[in-house]
Amino acid sequence: MPNKEKPKNMEAFLIHGRDVTPRWDYSHHVVPPMTASAVYRVESVERGAKGFAQFGNFEAMTEDPIYIYERIDEPTTGMLEDRLAEAEGGEMGIAFSTGMAAISAVTSALTKSGQHIISNDSVYGCTYSLFQHWMPKQGVDVDFVHLNGANLADHVKPETKIVYFESPINPTLELIDIEDLCNQVKKLNENRGEDNKILTIVDNTFASPYCQRPIEFGADFVVASLTKHISGYGTDMGGIVIGPKKYFSDMMLYRKDFGGVLSGKHAWPFLVYGLPSLPVRLRQTMATATEVAKYLSQHPKVDHVRYPGLETFPQYDLARKQMRDYDGNFAPSSILYFVLKGEPDVAKEKGAKLMNYLAANSLMYTYAVSLGHCKTLIEHPSTMTHSAISPEDQIRAGIDPGGVRIACGLEEPKALIDDMEKALEQI
Ligand SMILES: Cc1ncc(COP(=O)(O)O)c(C=O)c1O
Repeated sequence: MPNKEKPKNMEAFLIHGRDVTPRWDYSHHVVPPMTASAVYRVESVERGAKGFAQFGNFEAMTEDPIYIYERIDEPTTGMLEDRLAEAEGGEMGIAFSTGMAAISAVTSALTKSGQHIISNDSVYGCTYSLFQHWMPKQGVDVDFVHLNGANLADHVKPETKIVYFESPINPTLELIDIEDLCNQVKKLNENRGEDNKILTIVDNTFASPYCQRPIEFGADFVVASLTKHISGYGTDMGGIVIGPKKYFSDMMLYRKDFGGVLSGKHAWPFLVYGLPSLPVRLRQTMATATEVAKYLSQHPKVDHVRYPGLETFPQYDLARKQMRDYDGNFAPSSILYFVLKGEPDVAKEKGAKLMNYLAANSLMYTYAVSLGHCKTLIEHPSTMTHSAISPEDQIRAGIDPGGVRIACGLEEPKALIDDMEKALEQI
Protein backbone atom coordinates (compact mmCIF):
# COMPACT_ATOMS: atom_id res chain seq x y z
CA MET A 1 0.00 0.00 0.00
CA PRO A 2 1.55 3.33 -0.90
CA ASN A 3 2.92 5.40 1.94
CA LYS A 4 2.08 3.04 4.81
CA GLU A 5 5.64 1.88 5.35
CA LYS A 6 7.97 3.65 2.98
CA PRO A 7 10.59 1.43 1.32
CA LYS A 8 14.03 2.16 2.78
CA ASN A 9 15.82 1.09 -0.37
CA MET A 10 13.87 2.23 -3.41
CA GLU A 11 16.05 0.44 -5.96
CA ALA A 12 15.51 -2.87 -4.16
CA PHE A 13 11.82 -2.06 -3.90
CA LEU A 14 11.58 -1.58 -7.68
CA ILE A 15 13.02 -5.08 -8.07
CA HIS A 16 11.14 -6.89 -5.30
CA GLY A 17 8.02 -4.85 -4.59
CA ARG A 18 5.93 -6.20 -1.74
CA ASP A 19 4.94 -9.77 -2.27
CA VAL A 20 2.17 -9.69 0.30
CA THR A 21 -0.35 -6.88 0.22
CA PRO A 22 -4.12 -6.89 0.64
CA ARG A 23 -4.22 -6.83 -3.16
CA TRP A 24 -2.25 -9.99 -3.64
CA ASP A 25 -0.10 -12.64 -1.94
CA TYR A 26 2.67 -13.88 -4.19
CA SER A 27 5.06 -14.89 -1.44
CA HIS A 28 5.48 -18.30 -3.12
CA HIS A 29 6.33 -16.82 -6.50
CA VAL A 30 9.73 -15.51 -7.45
CA VAL A 31 8.03 -13.53 -10.23
CA PRO A 32 4.65 -11.90 -9.62
CA PRO A 33 1.90 -13.89 -11.33
CA MET A 34 -0.29 -12.35 -14.02
CA THR A 35 -4.06 -12.53 -13.85
CA ALA A 36 -5.59 -13.47 -17.15
CA SER A 37 -9.22 -13.29 -16.12
CA ALA A 38 -11.36 -10.38 -17.25
CA VAL A 39 -14.09 -11.33 -14.80
CA TYR A 40 -14.17 -12.45 -11.15
CA ARG A 41 -16.46 -14.77 -9.21
CA VAL A 42 -17.99 -13.03 -6.19
CA GLU A 43 -19.51 -16.04 -4.32
CA SER A 44 -22.72 -14.38 -3.15
CA VAL A 45 -25.22 -11.61 -3.77
CA GLU A 46 -23.95 -9.88 -0.63
CA ARG A 47 -20.30 -9.94 -1.71
CA GLY A 48 -21.19 -8.79 -5.23
CA ALA A 49 -23.19 -5.88 -3.81
CA LYS A 50 -20.35 -5.02 -1.40
CA GLY A 51 -17.90 -5.01 -4.31
CA PHE A 52 -20.04 -2.51 -6.23
CA ALA A 53 -20.76 -0.43 -3.14
CA GLN A 54 -17.08 0.00 -2.31
CA PHE A 55 -16.16 1.23 -5.79
CA GLY A 56 -14.22 4.49 -5.56
CA ASN A 57 -13.44 4.10 -1.85
CA PHE A 58 -9.64 4.18 -1.66
CA GLU A 59 -9.28 2.37 1.69
CA ALA A 60 -11.78 -0.37 0.83
CA MET A 61 -10.45 -0.94 -2.70
CA THR A 62 -6.81 -1.11 -1.66
CA GLU A 63 -7.12 -2.76 1.77
CA ASP A 64 -9.97 -5.20 1.20
CA PRO A 65 -10.44 -5.41 -2.57
CA ILE A 66 -13.37 -7.29 -4.04
CA TYR A 67 -12.53 -7.89 -7.68
CA ILE A 68 -15.47 -7.94 -10.08
CA TYR A 69 -14.38 -7.04 -13.60
CA GLU A 70 -11.05 -6.12 -15.14
CA ARG A 71 -12.10 -2.65 -16.33
CA ILE A 72 -13.08 -1.77 -12.75
CA ASP A 73 -9.99 -3.03 -10.89
CA GLU A 74 -7.54 -5.87 -11.20
CA PRO A 75 -4.73 -7.18 -8.95
CA THR A 76 -1.70 -7.20 -11.31
CA THR A 77 -2.45 -3.64 -12.41
CA GLY A 78 -3.06 -2.77 -8.74
CA MET A 79 0.39 -4.03 -7.77
CA LEU A 80 1.92 -1.87 -10.50
CA GLU A 81 -0.09 1.16 -9.39
CA ASP A 82 1.09 0.73 -5.80
CA ARG A 83 4.70 0.37 -6.88
CA LEU A 84 4.66 3.40 -9.20
CA ALA A 85 2.94 5.55 -6.57
CA GLU A 86 5.76 4.66 -4.16
CA ALA A 87 8.40 5.30 -6.81
CA GLU A 88 7.02 8.81 -7.44
CA GLY A 89 6.30 9.54 -3.75
CA GLY A 90 2.55 9.91 -4.34
CA GLU A 91 -0.46 8.60 -2.45
CA MET A 92 -2.18 6.70 -5.22
CA GLY A 93 -1.61 5.60 -8.78
CA ILE A 94 -4.16 4.78 -11.47
CA ALA A 95 -2.95 3.04 -14.62
CA PHE A 96 -4.24 3.57 -18.14
CA SER A 97 -3.79 1.85 -21.48
CA THR A 98 -1.43 4.58 -22.80
CA GLY A 99 0.22 7.78 -21.65
CA MET A 100 -2.33 9.80 -23.64
CA ALA A 101 -5.21 7.92 -21.98
CA ALA A 102 -3.72 8.96 -18.61
CA ILE A 103 -3.20 12.61 -19.66
CA SER A 104 -6.67 12.99 -21.19
CA ALA A 105 -8.25 11.29 -18.16
CA VAL A 106 -6.63 13.45 -15.50
CA THR A 107 -7.16 16.74 -17.35
CA SER A 108 -10.79 15.86 -18.17
CA ALA A 109 -11.68 14.42 -14.77
CA LEU A 110 -10.32 17.46 -12.91
CA THR A 111 -12.06 20.10 -15.05
CA LYS A 112 -15.57 21.03 -16.04
CA SER A 113 -17.00 23.24 -18.76
CA GLY A 114 -16.08 26.89 -18.23
CA GLN A 115 -12.76 26.15 -16.56
CA HIS A 116 -9.32 26.94 -17.89
CA ILE A 117 -5.96 25.19 -18.25
CA ILE A 118 -2.54 26.82 -18.53
CA SER A 119 -0.19 24.57 -20.44
CA ASN A 120 3.44 25.13 -21.23
CA ASP A 121 3.77 26.22 -24.87
CA SER A 122 5.86 23.19 -25.75
CA VAL A 123 4.42 19.83 -24.78
CA TYR A 124 4.35 16.44 -26.48
CA GLY A 125 2.51 16.80 -29.83
CA CYS A 126 -0.54 14.67 -28.91
CA THR A 127 -0.91 16.50 -25.58
CA TYR A 128 -0.89 19.74 -27.56
CA SER A 129 -3.51 18.34 -29.93
CA LEU A 130 -5.64 17.18 -26.95
CA PHE A 131 -5.48 20.68 -25.46
CA GLN A 132 -6.04 22.45 -28.74
CA HIS A 133 -8.81 20.31 -30.24
CA TRP A 134 -10.58 18.31 -27.59
CA MET A 135 -10.51 20.25 -24.33
CA PRO A 136 -12.24 23.30 -25.93
CA LYS A 137 -14.98 20.92 -27.18
CA GLN A 138 -15.54 20.06 -23.53
CA GLY A 139 -15.81 23.78 -22.76
CA VAL A 140 -12.32 23.98 -21.26
CA ASP A 141 -10.06 26.65 -22.74
CA VAL A 142 -6.31 26.14 -22.81
CA ASP A 143 -3.74 28.92 -22.95
CA PHE A 144 -0.23 27.98 -24.03
CA VAL A 145 2.32 29.95 -22.06
CA HIS A 146 6.12 29.78 -21.92
CA LEU A 147 6.25 28.67 -18.29
CA ASN A 148 10.01 28.70 -17.82
CA GLY A 149 10.56 31.82 -15.74
CA ALA A 150 6.92 32.93 -16.10
CA ASN A 151 5.06 34.94 -13.51
CA LEU A 152 1.94 32.77 -13.27
CA ALA A 153 -0.16 35.55 -11.79
CA ASP A 154 0.01 37.26 -15.21
CA HIS A 155 -1.74 34.31 -16.86
CA VAL A 156 -4.08 32.89 -14.24
CA LYS A 157 -7.82 33.56 -14.53
CA PRO A 158 -10.50 32.99 -11.90
CA GLU A 159 -11.49 29.87 -13.94
CA THR A 160 -7.97 28.41 -14.05
CA LYS A 161 -8.00 24.87 -12.69
CA ILE A 162 -4.82 23.23 -13.99
CA VAL A 163 -1.23 24.25 -14.66
CA TYR A 164 0.28 21.58 -16.91
CA PHE A 165 3.88 21.08 -18.05
CA GLU A 166 6.68 18.65 -18.78
CA SER A 167 10.20 18.94 -17.44
CA PRO A 168 12.46 18.22 -19.25
CA ILE A 169 10.29 19.48 -22.08
CA ASN A 170 9.90 17.21 -25.09
CA PRO A 171 11.87 17.71 -27.33
CA THR A 172 13.86 20.84 -26.43
CA LEU A 173 15.04 19.52 -23.05
CA GLU A 174 14.41 22.96 -21.57
CA LEU A 175 13.61 22.60 -17.86
CA ILE A 176 10.93 24.20 -15.75
CA ASP A 177 11.71 24.96 -12.13
CA ILE A 178 9.10 22.65 -10.62
CA GLU A 179 9.46 23.94 -7.07
CA ASP A 180 9.24 27.58 -8.12
CA LEU A 181 6.12 27.03 -10.23
CA CYS A 182 4.42 24.93 -7.54
CA ASN A 183 5.22 27.63 -4.96
CA GLN A 184 3.63 30.23 -7.24
CA VAL A 185 0.51 28.05 -7.49
CA LYS A 186 0.44 27.60 -3.70
CA LYS A 187 0.54 31.36 -3.27
CA LEU A 188 -2.25 31.91 -5.78
CA ASN A 189 -4.28 29.21 -4.01
CA GLU A 190 -4.12 31.07 -0.68
CA ASN A 191 -7.01 33.24 -1.86
CA ARG A 192 -9.04 30.42 -3.35
CA GLY A 193 -11.64 28.14 -1.77
CA GLU A 194 -11.01 24.40 -1.39
CA ASP A 195 -12.99 23.50 -4.57
CA ASN A 196 -11.35 26.22 -6.59
CA LYS A 197 -7.68 25.41 -6.00
CA ILE A 198 -5.36 25.31 -8.99
CA LEU A 199 -3.74 21.90 -9.45
CA THR A 200 -0.31 21.29 -10.97
CA ILE A 201 0.25 18.32 -13.25
CA VAL A 202 3.76 17.39 -14.36
CA ASP A 203 4.45 14.94 -17.17
CA ASN A 204 7.48 13.04 -15.86
CA THR A 205 7.93 10.79 -18.90
CA PHE A 206 11.32 12.17 -19.93
CA ALA A 207 12.91 11.85 -16.50
CA SER A 208 11.10 8.83 -14.97
CA PRO A 209 10.85 8.62 -11.17
CA TYR A 210 14.42 7.37 -11.06
CA CYS A 211 15.70 10.79 -12.18
CA GLN A 212 13.09 13.17 -10.77
CA ARG A 213 10.07 13.12 -8.45
CA PRO A 214 7.95 16.25 -9.05
CA ILE A 215 5.62 15.53 -6.10
CA GLU A 216 8.61 16.12 -3.77
CA PHE A 217 8.79 19.65 -5.21
CA GLY A 218 5.12 20.34 -4.56
CA ALA A 219 3.35 19.08 -7.71
CA ASP A 220 -0.14 17.69 -7.13
CA PHE A 221 -0.10 15.11 -9.92
CA VAL A 222 2.43 13.28 -12.00
CA VAL A 223 1.47 11.72 -15.31
CA ALA A 224 3.72 9.55 -17.43
CA SER A 225 3.80 7.39 -20.48
CA LEU A 226 4.90 3.96 -19.24
CA THR A 227 5.66 3.09 -22.87
CA LYS A 228 9.04 4.82 -22.49
CA HIS A 229 11.59 4.46 -19.63
CA ILE A 230 9.31 2.29 -17.49
CA SER A 231 8.76 -0.25 -20.26
CA GLY A 232 12.42 -0.03 -21.26
CA TYR A 233 12.14 -2.39 -24.21
CA GLY A 234 9.54 -0.79 -26.43
CA THR A 235 7.22 -3.79 -26.09
CA ASP A 236 4.26 -2.40 -24.16
CA MET A 237 2.12 0.71 -23.89
CA GLY A 238 0.76 2.20 -20.70
CA GLY A 239 0.17 5.38 -18.75
CA ILE A 240 -0.10 6.39 -15.12
CA VAL A 241 -1.66 9.16 -13.07
CA ILE A 242 -0.20 9.60 -9.57
CA GLY A 243 -1.66 12.03 -7.08
CA PRO A 244 -3.53 12.67 -3.85
CA LYS A 245 -5.93 9.96 -2.77
CA LYS A 246 -8.77 12.44 -2.40
CA TYR A 247 -9.05 12.29 -6.21
CA PHE A 248 -9.07 8.48 -6.28
CA SER A 249 -12.84 8.18 -6.54
CA ASP A 250 -13.20 10.64 -9.44
CA MET A 251 -10.26 9.21 -11.34
CA MET A 252 -11.49 5.62 -10.90
CA LEU A 253 -14.99 6.59 -12.00
CA TYR A 254 -13.59 8.31 -15.07
CA ARG A 255 -11.46 5.29 -15.95
CA LYS A 256 -14.38 2.87 -15.44
CA ASP A 257 -16.74 4.91 -17.63
CA PHE A 258 -14.34 5.98 -20.38
CA GLY A 259 -12.68 2.60 -20.24
CA GLY A 260 -9.01 3.32 -20.99
CA VAL A 261 -7.72 0.92 -18.34
CA LEU A 262 -4.36 -0.86 -18.39
CA SER A 263 -5.04 -4.59 -18.49
CA GLY A 264 -3.34 -6.99 -16.08
CA LYS A 265 -1.52 -8.66 -19.00
CA HIS A 266 -0.02 -5.33 -19.97
CA ALA A 267 0.79 -4.30 -16.40
CA TRP A 268 2.80 -7.49 -15.89
CA PRO A 269 5.82 -6.71 -18.13
CA PHE A 270 6.22 -3.31 -16.43
CA LEU A 271 6.30 -5.06 -13.05
CA VAL A 272 8.57 -7.89 -14.12
CA TYR A 273 11.00 -6.32 -16.61
CA GLY A 274 10.54 -2.56 -16.68
CA LEU A 275 10.62 -1.36 -13.09
CA PRO A 276 13.30 -3.76 -11.79
CA SER A 277 15.72 -2.77 -14.57
CA LEU A 278 14.91 0.97 -14.56
CA PRO A 279 17.85 2.16 -12.37
CA VAL A 280 20.49 0.03 -14.08
CA ARG A 281 19.25 0.97 -17.56
CA LEU A 282 19.16 4.65 -16.73
CA ARG A 283 22.61 4.67 -15.16
CA GLN A 284 23.97 3.15 -18.37
CA THR A 285 22.02 5.32 -20.82
CA MET A 286 22.82 8.50 -18.86
CA ALA A 287 26.54 7.75 -19.04
CA THR A 288 26.16 7.16 -22.79
CA ALA A 289 24.10 10.33 -23.32
CA THR A 290 26.78 12.34 -21.52
CA GLU A 291 29.51 11.05 -23.84
CA VAL A 292 27.45 11.49 -27.01
CA ALA A 293 26.41 15.00 -25.92
CA LYS A 294 30.05 15.95 -25.18
CA TYR A 295 31.14 14.61 -28.55
CA LEU A 296 28.42 16.49 -30.44
CA SER A 297 28.95 19.75 -28.58
CA GLN A 298 32.59 19.96 -29.71
CA HIS A 299 31.80 19.03 -33.33
CA PRO A 300 32.38 21.90 -35.79
CA LYS A 301 29.18 21.12 -37.76
CA VAL A 302 26.95 21.26 -34.66
CA ASP A 303 25.48 24.59 -33.62
CA HIS A 304 24.35 23.58 -30.15
CA VAL A 305 23.46 20.56 -28.04
CA ARG A 306 20.95 20.49 -25.23
CA TYR A 307 21.47 17.85 -22.59
CA PRO A 308 20.82 18.63 -18.91
CA GLY A 309 23.94 16.67 -17.95
CA LEU A 310 26.32 19.00 -19.82
CA GLU A 311 27.98 21.75 -17.82
CA THR A 312 27.26 24.08 -20.74
CA PHE A 313 23.50 23.37 -20.50
CA PRO A 314 21.90 26.79 -19.83
CA GLN A 315 19.92 25.45 -16.86
CA TYR A 316 22.64 23.19 -15.49
CA ASP A 317 22.16 24.43 -11.90
CA LEU A 318 18.44 23.77 -12.04
CA ALA A 319 19.08 20.35 -13.57
CA ARG A 320 21.41 19.54 -10.68
CA LYS A 321 18.82 20.69 -8.20
CA GLN A 322 15.78 18.81 -9.42
CA MET A 323 17.09 15.80 -11.35
CA ARG A 324 18.40 13.40 -8.72
CA ASP A 325 18.23 9.64 -8.32
CA TYR A 326 17.09 7.94 -5.11
CA ASP A 327 20.57 8.25 -3.60
CA GLY A 328 20.82 11.95 -4.42
CA ASN A 329 23.17 11.55 -7.41
CA PHE A 330 22.72 13.87 -10.37
CA ALA A 331 20.44 12.07 -12.86
CA PRO A 332 19.90 14.10 -16.05
CA SER A 333 18.12 11.24 -17.94
CA SER A 334 19.27 10.09 -21.36
CA ILE A 335 17.65 12.20 -24.07
CA LEU A 336 19.49 14.89 -25.96
CA TYR A 337 18.63 17.38 -28.65
CA PHE A 338 20.91 19.11 -31.11
CA VAL A 339 20.83 21.53 -34.02
CA LEU A 340 23.26 21.67 -36.92
CA LYS A 341 24.95 24.89 -38.02
CA GLY A 342 23.47 27.14 -40.69
CA GLU A 343 20.40 29.25 -41.36
CA PRO A 344 17.18 27.43 -40.29
CA ASP A 345 16.49 26.07 -43.82
CA VAL A 346 20.07 24.90 -44.27
CA ALA A 347 20.18 23.31 -40.80
CA LYS A 348 16.89 21.56 -41.53
CA GLU A 349 18.15 20.18 -44.85
CA LYS A 350 21.40 19.01 -43.27
CA GLY A 351 19.50 17.44 -40.37
CA ALA A 352 17.31 15.50 -42.80
CA LYS A 353 20.41 14.32 -44.69
CA LEU A 354 22.07 13.22 -41.45
CA MET A 355 19.01 11.31 -40.24
CA ASN A 356 18.44 9.67 -43.64
CA TYR A 357 22.07 8.60 -43.73
CA LEU A 358 21.85 7.09 -40.24
CA ALA A 359 18.52 5.42 -41.03
CA ALA A 360 20.02 3.76 -44.11
CA ASN A 361 23.53 2.98 -42.88
CA SER A 362 23.72 2.74 -39.11
CA LEU A 363 22.94 -0.25 -36.98
CA MET A 364 23.34 1.89 -33.86
CA TYR A 365 20.66 4.52 -34.56
CA THR A 366 17.09 3.47 -35.25
CA TYR A 367 15.03 6.16 -36.91
CA ALA A 368 11.91 5.99 -34.75
CA VAL A 369 9.88 7.98 -32.26
CA SER A 370 9.71 6.99 -28.57
CA LEU A 371 12.48 6.83 -25.99
CA GLY A 372 13.70 4.83 -23.01
CA HIS A 373 14.31 1.85 -25.29
CA CYS A 374 17.30 -0.50 -25.20
CA LYS A 375 18.00 0.64 -28.79
CA THR A 376 19.09 4.23 -29.44
CA LEU A 377 16.28 6.06 -31.22
CA ILE A 378 16.75 9.16 -33.34
CA GLU A 379 13.94 11.30 -34.72
CA HIS A 380 13.00 14.69 -36.15
CA PRO A 381 10.49 16.26 -33.72
CA SER A 382 9.39 19.01 -36.09
CA THR A 383 7.97 16.55 -38.65
CA MET A 384 7.18 13.65 -36.33
CA THR A 385 6.39 13.81 -32.59
CA HIS A 386 5.58 17.54 -32.65
CA SER A 387 4.04 17.85 -36.11
CA ALA A 388 0.65 18.61 -34.50
CA ILE A 389 2.13 22.00 -33.52
CA SER A 390 2.10 24.56 -36.37
CA PRO A 391 5.54 25.63 -37.71
CA GLU A 392 5.04 29.15 -36.25
CA ASP A 393 4.09 27.77 -32.82
CA GLN A 394 7.02 25.36 -32.95
CA ILE A 395 9.43 28.24 -33.42
CA ARG A 396 7.73 30.19 -30.60
CA ALA A 397 8.14 27.14 -28.36
CA GLY A 398 11.84 26.80 -29.21
CA ILE A 399 11.46 23.73 -31.45
CA ASP A 400 14.03 24.25 -34.16
CA PRO A 401 12.97 23.18 -37.70
CA GLY A 402 16.20 21.19 -37.98
CA GLY A 403 16.44 19.94 -34.38
CA VAL A 404 17.34 16.27 -33.91
CA ARG A 405 16.35 14.22 -30.85
CA ILE A 406 18.36 11.24 -29.66
CA ALA A 407 17.11 8.90 -26.95
CA CYS A 408 20.14 6.87 -25.92
CA GLY A 409 19.87 3.11 -25.59
CA LEU A 410 22.19 0.45 -24.28
CA GLU A 411 24.75 0.45 -27.11
CA GLU A 412 28.34 1.37 -26.26
CA PRO A 413 28.94 5.13 -26.49
CA LYS A 414 31.94 4.60 -28.77
CA ALA A 415 29.85 2.74 -31.33
CA LEU A 416 27.28 5.55 -31.31
CA ILE A 417 29.96 8.21 -31.66
CA ASP A 418 31.69 6.34 -34.52
CA ASP A 419 28.47 6.07 -36.52
CA MET A 420 27.60 9.71 -35.84
CA GLU A 421 31.08 10.76 -36.98
CA LYS A 422 30.57 8.95 -40.31
CA ALA A 423 27.13 10.53 -40.72
CA LEU A 424 28.43 14.03 -39.98
CA GLU A 425 31.12 13.55 -42.63
CA GLN A 426 28.33 13.17 -45.22
CA ILE A 427 26.74 16.55 -44.67
C1 LIG B 1 6.41 13.44 -22.87
C2 LIG B 1 5.36 12.49 -23.36
N1 LIG B 1 4.18 12.43 -22.74
C3 LIG B 1 3.21 11.60 -23.15
C4 LIG B 1 3.37 10.75 -24.22
C5 LIG B 1 2.25 9.85 -24.66
O1 LIG B 1 2.44 8.54 -24.26
P1 LIG B 1 1.81 7.29 -25.02
O2 LIG B 1 2.48 7.19 -26.36
O3 LIG B 1 2.10 6.13 -24.11
O4 LIG B 1 0.35 7.55 -25.16
C6 LIG B 1 4.60 10.77 -24.89
C7 LIG B 1 4.82 9.88 -26.06
O5 LIG B 1 5.76 10.00 -26.80
C8 LIG B 1 5.62 11.66 -24.46
O6 LIG B 1 6.82 11.72 -25.07
